[in-house]
Formats: sequence, structure tokens, C-alpha cells
Amino acid sequence: MSISLSELLILGQGSDLASERGVSCAGELPPASDPHLVERAIAARAALGSRALILGHHYQRDEVIQFADITGDSFKLAQSAAAQSDAEFIFFCGVHFMAESADILTSSKQRVILPDLAAGCSMADMATANQVNQCWKDLERIGVASRTVPVTYMNSSAAIKSFTGEHGGTICTSSNAQKSLEWAFAKAEKVLFLPDQHLGRNTAVLSLGLSIDDCVVWNPWKPMGGLTEDQIKNAKMILWRGHCSVHGRFTRETVDEVRARIPGVNVIVHPECQHEVVLAADVVGSTEKIIQAVTSSPAGSKWAIGTELNLVSRLAQNNPDKEVVFLDKTVCYCSTMNRIDLPHLVWAMESIVSGHIVNEIKVDERVAKYSKLALEQMLAL
Ligand code: 13P
Ligand code: SF4
Repeated sequence: MSISLSELLILGQGSDLASERGVSCAGELPPASDPHLVERAIAARAALGSRALILGHHYQRDEVIQFADITGDSFKLAQSAAAQSDAEFIFFCGVHFMAESADILTSSKQRVILPDLAAGCSMADMATANQVNQCWKDLERIGVASRTVPVTYMNSSAAIKSFTGEHGGTICTSSNAQKSLEWAFAKAEKVLFLPDQHLGRNTAVLSLGLSIDDCVVWNPWKPMGGLTEDQIKNAKMILWRGHCSVHGRFTRETVDEVRARIPGVNVIVHPECQHEVVLAADVVGSTEKIIQAVTSSPAGSKWAIGTELNLVSRLAQNNPDKEVVFLDKTVCYCSTMNRIDLPHLVWAMESIVSGHIVNEIKVDERVAKYSKLALEQMLAL
């Protein structure tokens, strides 16, 4: 019987050279059914004390988020990592690109641990260093690279962040994309926006007032991105053809359906959603903004939320005086965020308590140098 690469990846084994993440997780994990998992996590956390800091992204499972010292969106967690100089071990409960950024922003004495190396991001994998270098060469050949600044979403590999720093660009997250684009357009005529076309388009059109026709989509699988020289020369935003498979599921119809089902509902969505979904919503924002909007709304408010389900379920639980529903009828978790579960967190903490450093995320020094420039540019905005 032959097993395909994708089956191996699902099993969390083997290696995937095309991915920004690792796919194997060494070691003896406690079984998920172990009734003592919570006690074991509490004991390991206590043993680590101030040597450890646990960062948890809002999409993490409840069983993991309960152990986070700081929870946040990707911007807040990057800021927290950069501001943190004491903890020897930073357990990053999120995905691989976030842990890489934390490693870049912390000192060489601090070690960043990703409890499961298979926690990657399919969007980050949609832009490889070779593809991006080829795109830039094409832009140079037709004479537009010198008038273009790269703006790269946090959801990208360290190699793409390094490309961005080397070419005078900045990183952005969903909470500062507008500021980042304003900064970039003050420096140059065009922006190469990597790798999420939706965040790029939504921000350019809705926050900066550009038109849809100012945007073109660069398809890395086609020569010259599938565009003509004139299309590239006339565009202000060159959007990489990447997307989030979780947020890509929400459609205009899901918005219409929830409005018909729940009269008076406020629809709030993440800017990784398709443009037509964002246009149909009442509010658009990062995970932090979504939490803030729902928690500060008056009792009796009704919300349909278009983002990852762990966060939406927690908001529903924590706001019993409001009606909070998931925007889609179908269950939709981010499968890679969900790779971090309590068995992996317990295993990683217990290993370190017993002196074995596991799942350390270490970005190559050459890559880290320019990635750090681009990340610090974002933090300075
Ligand atoms: P935030 O920056 O809003 O936390 O989003 C991160 C992410 O991966 C969304 O898919
Ligand atoms: Fe990546 Fe989408 Fe998951 Fe965010 S929700 S980590 S963009 S796959």
C-alpha cells in the first residue's frame, strides 16, 4: 500500500520541504485521554516558574489558552515577545511563523518552543522564497522594482520577512495593515503585498480609498505572475495570490443567511475574508478588535462572527448576556492552530523541566538579520 505525502503530513510525520514548518514531533506524548493532564500541566508550569512565559494566540483551544500568561492577536504577541527579556523559555502556543517572529525579536539567550512542530499555516506556505525572488526579478526587469515597496503580512516564513527587510519594506498584521500601507505609499508608488491578497485588497480599498482596479493579483505559478507589463505598470497594489483556507470559507451567502435568520445581528469579520464578505459585514477587524467589539457591546446585542471557531466559541461562552454565533453553519477550525493541544504542551513543558530542550524554533542568523529589520519597522509604526 502506498501512502501519499499528504497522508504523512496528516499523521504529523515525515518532512515537507515546501513548507515553512516542520511536520514531525519527536517524543512520547501523554495520551489525550490521560485524566491527569491538567494536574501535570499545572505541576510543570509551577516547576518552570519565571523561567517560562506562555504566549497564546486567540485561536488556541480552551485547554491550552487556560495556561497562557499572555493572550493576544499576532501583533500583541509579537510586541509581548519583543518586550520580554527575562523568560528563558517562551512557549509559543500559536503557529510556526509566530514562533519564528518571537525568536527573531528575543535575545539569543532566550529559547522559543513550539509545542507541536506541525503547527504551520497554509497561507504562509503560499509564498516561497524562490517564487518571491523571481517576482522581484521580473519587477526589476520591467523597471518597476525601484518604485515598489514590499509589505508582508506576519503570516509568512522568516525567509519572506527577510526579503522584505532587505528591500526596504515592512511587516504588518491585520491590526496595523492600514498604517503599514500608508507608510509604504509615502515611500513609493507601488506596494507588493505578500502573501494574503484579501488583507491587501480589503485594506487598500476600504481603508486607503484605492479602487479595485488599482489592484492586480500576482499568480506565482504563472510566468510574470500571469500579468502583462502594462497591468503591472498601471497597478498600485500588486497582491500575491495567497489566502487563508479558514476565512476563505465565509461567503456573501453566509452573511445574507445569518441576517435573515437573526434580525438585527451585527456581522463582524476578519480582514482575511474575501472582499465581498467584508463589504457585506458591519465591522471588520483583527482578532483583538473582534474581542473588543463584542465584549464592549451592550447586553442583548447580537453578533455573527467570521473568524476561527475556537475564538467564536469562547466569545459566546464569555458573553452570556449577548447572542454570539459563528458566521458559517459548518464547523470550521484552523487545523494547524489546533495541533497545539494539552498533550503537546504538557510534553514540551515536562521535557524542559527534566532538562531536554524540545521543539526549539531557531531562525538562521542570516535570515534573522533582515527579518528583524522588517519586524522592527512594523513595531516602530
Ligand atoms: P490576528 O493577527 O488577527 O491575530 O490573525 C492571525 C491569523 O492567523 C488570522 O488567521
Ligand atoms: Fe493561517 Fe488561516 Fe490558520 Fe490563520 S487561520 S493560521 S491564516 S490557516
